[in-house]
Amino acid sequence: MDKQTRTLTRFLVEEQMKHPGATGAFTELFADITLAAKIVSREVNKAGLAEILGVTGDINIHGEEVKKLDEFANEIFKHVLLKSGIVAAIASEEEDEVVISPPGRYIVVYDPLDGSSNIDVNVSIGTIFGIYRNNSGENVSIKDFLRSGRELVAAGYLIYGSSTMLVYTTGNGVHGFTLDPSIGEFILSHYDIKIPEEGKIYSINEAYESRWGNKMKGYIRNLKENGKTLRYIGSLVADFHRNLLKGGIFLYPADKKNPHGKLRLLYEAIPLAFIVEQAGGYASDGKGNILDRIPERIHEKTPLFIGSRKEVEKLENFLRNG
Ligand code: AHG
Ligand code: MN
Ligand code: MN
Repeated sequence: MDKQTRTLTRFLVEEQMKHPGATGAFTELFADITLAAKIVSREVNKAGLAEILGVTGDINIHGEEVKKLDEFANEIFKHVLLKSGIVAAIASEEEDEVVISPPGRYIVVYDPLDGSSNIDVNVSIGTIFGIYRNNSGENVSIKDFLRSGRELVAAGYLIYGSSTMLVYTTGNGVHGFTLDPSIGEFILSHYDIKIPEEGKIYSINEAYESRWGNKMKGYIRNLKENGKTLRYIGSLVADFHRNLLKGGIFLYPADKKNPHGKLRLLYEAIPLAFIVEQAGGYASDGKGNILDRIPERIHEKTPLFIGSRKEVEKLENFLRNG
């Protein structure tokens, strides 16, 4: 019976009770995030029926086409978070600048819809978020976003896939909850997720091989010679989630076209780095730990290598020594 009734709310309240000073604001913030996620999940699930597929006609700050669902997810998360009185400011992939609206004890960074190219073809997509404490009160500004991932209070992602899941950490292990749409509740389905130390899977867009440096080419050749297998969905959240459960490495290196990589440091790489580290894995930009990076701009890009600890360390050695 307990298996079916261990809701996210109950889990959060139990966690909250372990911290005597807790005000409940964090639990409320999670209720807001899951509300927004349920609305996005509902729209994703009926996307083929509604007028929500396709593009808005706008190009975002990264020079990419904005899909209607990108825009919708961004607006829902922004609205729910900033109206709560708990979140003082947000930074989103789909907002050129940070949006500030104090008061609030927290600030939130997010990629509202990750894997945009998969929206129209019924392939898994997701939302990534990170939560920091607002240390500046009413004076919150862009500076409050340019900090190390080690300061994260929590990070998580939603995956809108064959089921909708929330996976998050507050620094006390990584837990996964599956949405039961019939009752509208996230139920604990994956307690204390640990990523295998090594894994067979590698995930990279190999079509870009001609743009890579020789060390990167040599590394991938070596993986093939060692019996690894390739899985690449093209939605970071979905590729990350599979590798978290099964073991392996996700790679989006710098290349001739994208000298700083494609993925964004603040609201893609850093939250997932915190999650993977909590699960016993590791995230690197090729030189060192993603969690040691301090973003200089909210939309800064980074190469990203993330997954099983030994696999990512092997990659770092390869890039160092060839
Ligand atoms: P977004 O949809 O938020 O812009 O992110 C897309 C990202 C990421 O999800 C995925 O891993 C990557 O783009 C795929 O890029 P390629 O098509 O270059 O492989
Ligand atoms: Mn993304
Ligand atoms: Mn996105």
